[in-house]
Amino acid sequence: MTGSFLPHRRLVAALFGTLKLMQMYGREHDASRDGLSNLLQTIHAAIEDNESRVGIRGSRVQVNGRTMRTADCGTLALGFLSAEWSRRMIEIVRFRSDITLDDLSGFGIAFLDVDVSRDDVFEQLVKECARRGVRNVTIEKLEEITPEPVVLEDRRQNAMRGYLRGLRAFKEVLSFKGLDDKKNQRRARRAVQGLVDRFLEDETAVLALAQIRSHDVKLFQHSLHVCLYSLLVGQRLGMSRRQLGELGLAALFHDLGKTEHEENRTRPGPKKQWSTFKDHPAVGARLLLEEGTVHEGMLKAAIVAYEHHAQFDRNGFPRVDYALHLTSRVVAIADCYESLTTTRAYREIPYTTQEALSLMQAKSGTLFDPVLFKVFVNALGVYPVGTLVELSTGEVGIVQVSPSGDAKPSQPTVRIVVTATGELPPETDVNLAETDERDEPLRSILRTLAHHEVFGSVGDYVAAM
Ligand SMILES: [Fe+2]
Ligand SMILES: [Fe+2]
Repeated sequence: MTGSFLPHRRLVAALFGTLKLMQMYGREHDASRDGLSNLLQTIHAAIEDNESRVGIRGSRVQVNGRTMRTADCGTLALGFLSAEWSRRMIEIVRFRSDITLDDLSGFGIAFLDVDVSRDDVFEQLVKECARRGVRNVTIEKLEEITPEPVVLEDRRQNAMRGYLRGLRAFKEVLSFKGLDDKKNQRRARRAVQGLVDRFLEDETAVLALAQIRSHDVKLFQHSLHVCLYSLLVGQRLGMSRRQLGELGLAALFHDLGKTEHEENRTRPGPKKQWSTFKDHPAVGARLLLEEGTVHEGMLKAAIVAYEHHAQFDRNGFPRVDYALHLTSRVVAIADCYESLTTTRAYREIPYTTQEALSLMQAKSGTLFDPVLFKVFVNALGVYPVGTLVELSTGEVGIVQVSPSGDAKPSQPTVRIVVTATGELPPETDVNLAETDERDEPLRSILRTLAHHEVFGSVGDYVAAM
């Protein structure tokens, strides 16, 4: 076996990225389709002896017989694949050289849909692939029952799992099976608490996920990110685990009122549907109260849904003549920041962190609580965790840790993901405060980058984090 290692590495990244995209956005989403055709290409590029083979035993991942190293593929991708393979009792997946896009998407759907709690999960998967007419993907069963594999359980992976679970639960609740379904409520509450726990464990890992930007930001993703930014402020305010849970839930449901009218989801043009848009706070509060459970968290959520556009100076909508609830004031900041920094139907290029924060600074005291805004800016840092940056050395990195204490906010710790010559380096973290013998910084940030400028898919970006 000679030749470059790169096709193998790409195959792992594409497989991980595509399965994640299909999980996150569903199969019909453009991102999933792009992922699948990218995966097809990487499979073809890695073909040796008429097939590309992904074999996994325990935590060891092999592509065409070569063991993939964590340094090459990232713990997230390898951990995910090894856990998902073993969950389905698969040892090897063979992609044959004649593979088509239909084969691949049929396999992906069967793979994600199979009930992993069944004893005959492997046999079910084989059946489902056959039913879907998948011809050129075959699987081999993991024969001996090995004890639970040592899954690469690091915090980042945990954070990712919490995030995805949250995303799925919120998507279901928001999309809208209804809050009157008690199971959905419970699921949402559990997902938020899970997210809070992950957050308390490793705040930076969870926050990095809020940097994931898709081109058409769905309401559930917006809600989840507003939830994460709100938790960041709550944490700085010293809220307890329970208080954070309530804050998270309220942030999550702040735009619930938009789900009632499909056309109401985006901010309308000058006149168009302005009145329905203006109604969403009250509609949301009604939906949250209507579900009938006197649960304190839901009560707070109803208040926040009602007040999140009311503004600190009470000049927003709906008009109120009392001081806004603390939770509403936190969520209003998170909501505005999230909206400014993502693409929208009415704004193709999102604002950078710096631009968004300076726009918001101008409104501090009118739109937002000035004290809470300061807390938010301090917690977020100039370059929030997860931001992609281009360095003066030509390298590209992802911000890992925001500076604290006396350190300069413009000098975070960065993980290099692309070297100056365009290669993927082994995992290296550099502190931008490091200087040479003349006391000049070794590296500085030139600009921030959008993930699509560097990575082929959101999955690759997540894997690099
Ligand atoms: Fe809103
Ligand atoms: Fe919102």
